[in-house]
Amino acid sequence: MNKTEEISLISEADESARNYLKSIEDRRVFPDQAALLNLDQLGGKLSNDGADSFETLNLLASVGEAATVTSNGPNYYGFVIGATLPVAAAADRLAAAWDQCASSHVNSPAMAKIEKVAGEWLLDVLGLPIESGVGFGTSATACGMSCLATARAGLLQAQGWDVAEQGLAGAPVIRVVVPETVHVTVKKALKLLGFGMSNVEYATVDDQGRVVPEKLPPIDAQTILCLQAGEVNTGEFDRFDQIIPAAKRAGAWVHVDGAFGLWARASRQKRSLTEGVELADSWTTDGHKWLNTPYESAVAICRNKSLLAKTLNADAVYSTAEDDAQKNITLEFSRKAKGLGFWAVLRTLGRDGVEKLVDQYCDHAMEIAAGVKELGITVHNRVVLNQVLCSLETDEKTREFLDAVQRSGEVWFGPSVWKGRPVFRISVSSWRTQSYHVRKLLSVIDRHL
Ligand SMILES: Cc1ncc(COP(=O)(O)O)c(C=O)c1O
Repeated sequence: MNKTEEISLISEADESARNYLKSIEDRRVFPDQAALLNLDQLGGKLSNDGADSFETLNLLASVGEAATVTSNGPNYYGFVIGATLPVAAAADRLAAAWDQCASSHVNSPAMAKIEKVAGEWLLDVLGLPIESGVGFGTSATACGMSCLATARAGLLQAQGWDVAEQGLAGAPVIRVVVPETVHVTVKKALKLLGFGMSNVEYATVDDQGRVVPEKLPPIDAQTILCLQAGEVNTGEFDRFDQIIPAAKRAGAWVHVDGAFGLWARASRQKRSLTEGVELADSWTTDGHKWLNTPYESAVAICRNKSLLAKTLNADAVYSTAEDDAQKNITLEFSRKAKGLGFWAVLRTLGRDGVEKLVDQYCDHAMEIAAGVKELGITVHNRVVLNQVLCSLETDEKTREFLDAVQRSGEVWFGPSVWKGRPVFRISVSSWRTQSYHVRKLLSVIDRHL
């Protein structure tokens, strides 16, 4: 492909992207059956001689696009997916042209600086210890795994055991305590790290999914205690100020999964929900949920920066780098700058803008909760954040209603299970969602009751 063709191909992609964005308010939120059936056109037998680049792009722009979920729009309330703020999307497009391997300064001075600055701003806006190490990774899942590996290395080191050298066989036992409502991805990280699910101990939670401090299993210097800022169903917070100081005195490592809820730190209205969270040892959060960065932007934050760097170091004879080079504090070696979206959004919104975004989600969730209650729908949670957990009189009605709303294509939210019963979960996490979208949501709900 020559230069003219390359530029023209990229321009076509940009044109399609522009048109997609223009249609984002009015697109179906979930693709219809015909669009789903057409997806078969993307497959078939792999050819020997390949295809024309323009034709490949056109196929993607037509068949692929028609089957997208409009989670980047204002009417999507599923899974805490989050849309993408324009500046972050634009920065991503630029970065695609640069195609930087953002492993360290020598690989990409620009990206190394951007991620360093993004890390500092992030600690500032979240009010976490400024000495912490900040590794930008793919997901809260992957970043949680980095934090938990570091936690285990740290607790074992305190017991005189170097896990990187000596391995796990014969090592002092490290216990793990998690809330009964722990997110599945924390369990996944624990499984991959070899903790074994039957060894994990569960902390009793209350009717909002928060750990009951008085019912915590015994915590000692060989315990990793996982807590939550933003329980996935209710959006609730564990009582960090009541739990963490005692756990720390006992010598435990406290890790906080704050995939979306940690952003409550940025809001003066909501910050008190997170009181004491700054006393933990490690934290994970996502940019791709509440900060509305593009996907694959998450972060592992670890108070003990050198322990994070020691645990995740990936220096090689041909690739030595600074201790806090991103390849040395994340799971990835070759990687794109996953901190770029954080940098672009934090720089553009500033502290006040992030607060406004957080408050906007929470205010809309309150409006939704009030609106659905007026329609006679049961709301199961206190709605302290962005999650509204609902059901109808019977399990069957709940399921049928959800199915009908999803099929409408006008708005979308998903199912969950709360206390063993089917519920539906409305999550607000798109910067595009405004009060008139909330009114639309309520009228769609009303029509399908
Ligand atoms: C509370 C919580 N923790 C962890 C995760 C995992 O995040 P990610 O999808 O970025 O791996 C999620 C959501 O997906 C979540 O809601």
